[in-house]
Amino acid sequence: MTSLTSKPTSEQPYSKQYWRQGYQSQRQEESYDLEILSGSVPKALTGTLFRNGPGLLDIHGIPIQHPFDGDGMICKFSFKEGNVHFQNRFVRTEGFLKEQEAGTILYRNVFGTQKPGGWLKNAFDFKQKNIANTNITYWGDKLLALWEGGLPHRLNPDTLETIGIEQLDGILGEGEAFSAHPWVEPESVINDHQPCLINFYIEPGLSTTIHIYEFDPDFNLLRKQSYPVPGFAFVHDFAITPHYYIFFQNPVKFNPIPFVFGLRGAAECIKFKPEENTRIWVIPRDKNSGETVKELEVNAGFIFHHGNAFEVKNKQICVDSICYADFPEVDADSDFRDVDFEALSPGQLWRFTLDLETATVAKKIIEPRCCEFPFVHPKKVGQPYRYLFMGTAHQARGNAPLQAILKYDWEKEERLVWSAAPNGFVSEPIFVPKPDGNDEDDGWVLTLVYQGEKHRSELVILEGKTLEETARLGLRYHIPYGLHGSWVDYSHFH
Ligand SMILES: [Fe+2]
Repeated sequence: MTSLTSKPTSEQPYSKQYWRQGYQSQRQEESYDLEILSGSVPKALTGTLFRNGPGLLDIHGIPIQHPFDGDGMICKFSFKEGNVHFQNRFVRTEGFLKEQEAGTILYRNVFGTQKPGGWLKNAFDFKQKNIANTNITYWGDKLLALWEGGLPHRLNPDTLETIGIEQLDGILGEGEAFSAHPWVEPESVINDHQPCLINFYIEPGLSTTIHIYEFDPDFNLLRKQSYPVPGFAFVHDFAITPHYYIFFQNPVKFNPIPFVFGLRGAAECIKFKPEENTRIWVIPRDKNSGETVKELEVNAGFIFHHGNAFEVKNKQICVDSICYADFPEVDADSDFRDVDFEALSPGQLWRFTLDLETATVAKKIIEPRCCEFPFVHPKKVGQPYRYLFMGTAHQARGNAPLQAILKYDWEKEERLVWSAAPNGFVSEPIFVPKPDGNDEDDGWVLTLVYQGEKHRSELVILEGKTLEETARLGLRYHIPYGLHGSWVDYSHFH
């Protein structure tokens, strides 16, 4: 284990060594009540927080190339009567089971992990391991671990045991995929005002096909459409409004040769073209609306995540996104733990206003502070809204690890920041509305914080209005930096 002696320097609000430690594998699977370290858990905060992320950063001591290649580990926090029960468990994917049994890496993966033995062992092997590590969603009585390169894995919400690959009664075909960024629209005007879950999958090829699905609360398919777009598409997330799906096609080129010959992972063959525009596809959700797909263009940098989108008068749509001036290209020859934060461009919040009549796009930077993992009140998905919660850096300028939570107020153009610096590193903030709340920020913000000095993780509950700490709960060990999660307003899981 790395020594725990490094302290933050005066120049930066974090210790690089502490940050690196958060990328150590966690092999333990446990179930216990969290210790309340400070404050108290509101009794009205009742339900379950599920989170997903890479739990293993090595396979029996052989390091993987990038954390995005790590096997998915689910964390479950059950809130009841002021108590929080914690449980974690790996998703038993086929690849996880086989590699754990073999004690070595058996698969190549997207972000550069290769089988031991050099390029000859990897050339012409296109089978990727479904690592089920990016997000987790509960819909239609199904708890699904999501990874955009493959089908979802269904889990038992009580035990977190893996039930198996989920094809949704044949809606998803073998070899297809289901993105890790579904949206739940709370009241769908084109679907009888019922809630619906909307997701997509990118079918790669010489050109790309975007498949989009809408499901009712029982996971019955309401709508499906497929739309071809030219060229290679790296689309991790999308945005929705009551009448449109919006896809930003990042300006990248894919050179498959090093991948085919076993020299590089697929994502290492992606070249960002900052001089080229992002193509924006605005697809009408209702195929009978008479509207056609609109193609717009703007120089938008590279985008992983959208915070929200909504329609405004005169056929305009606002899309709020985290943009990077440069794609953080994956370097096959270096350790991701040695990343030079200052040398990379930060993610920043931008607003894009799409004018469907004139096919033009206006853009404006909203928050220059380094930020990621935007999260909006669940009732405001696809709607005009006031507050956006994000992970952010401790300092207002420059690129750095996420150590703080930022609440942006669009109406007042103000921000609040809660920081876990110098020793804490935050995860995606998840906003949970209060059951009797009226205001949009009447709720709690939940974030899992890795505490570098203790080498343990803590669950922090913040007050949505003020970002003041309501409670802090201690885990017995650390959880490697995770990706996404969701709140289920539902407390009868064990
Ligand atoms: Fe994501």
